[in-house]
Amino acid sequence: TKRVALLISGGGSNMVKLVESMQGDHPARAVLVGSNDPEAGGLKKAAAMGIETFAVDHRPFKGDRPAFEAELQRQLEAAQPDIICLAGFMRVLTEGFVRNWDGRMLNIHPSLLPKYKGLHTHKRALEAGDAEAGCSVHLVTPELDDGPILGQARVPVEAGDTADTLAARVLVQEHLLYPAVLRRFAAGDHAPLMLG
Ligand code: GAR
Repeated sequence: TKRVALLISGGGSNMVKLVESMQGDHPARAVLVGSNDPEAGGLKKAAAMGIETFAVDHRPFKGDRPAFEAELQRQLEAAQPDIICLAGFMRVLTEGFVRNWDGRMLNIHPSLLPKYKGLHTHKRALEAGDAEAGCSVHLVTPELDDGPILGQARVPVEAGDTADTLAARVLVQEHLLYPAVLRRFAAGDHAPLMLG
């Protein structure tokens, strides 16, 4: 059974779906949830599900990413994870940290990569007049939002959509896609999963 650690920055809805999925006949189980924000709502949700949690507040490090990441790494290593799932983790990671988990760290991004790397993905999709939007799960490589795609799900853009209504429609798909991709990945299947 693969050991999975999850990193979050906010409410952690993707983290909850992933943890819930790793039960019963599953090739992985959740062992740790961490955050760069001690106030992240997802930490309490993880604790309520019986998962060990930690926070490493990035703010006292004042932009010293390697020092922040050294502490993050120390906390992660203590749980000996086989797989790291970034689930709404909003800190940019250095190449040094990413290399620690080469081929073992997954991220979900709310766009149809390679479109709209970075922030404000839904606003940018609407401004571009795109007919569809979606989400991607990918392996994390040093370049931001750039690694090999492990899965994507598509949704239509509808008339009258705002960034918020589009985000909500995409999030429903995130909650389906990420657990499905993780199950396959943990079983050794790295072929892309395309939904919708
Ligand atoms: C999700 O939509 C995720 O795709 C996005 O943040 C949200 C987190 O929600 N991630 C990024 O933008 C990564 N740059 P959650 O905390 O409810 O899972």
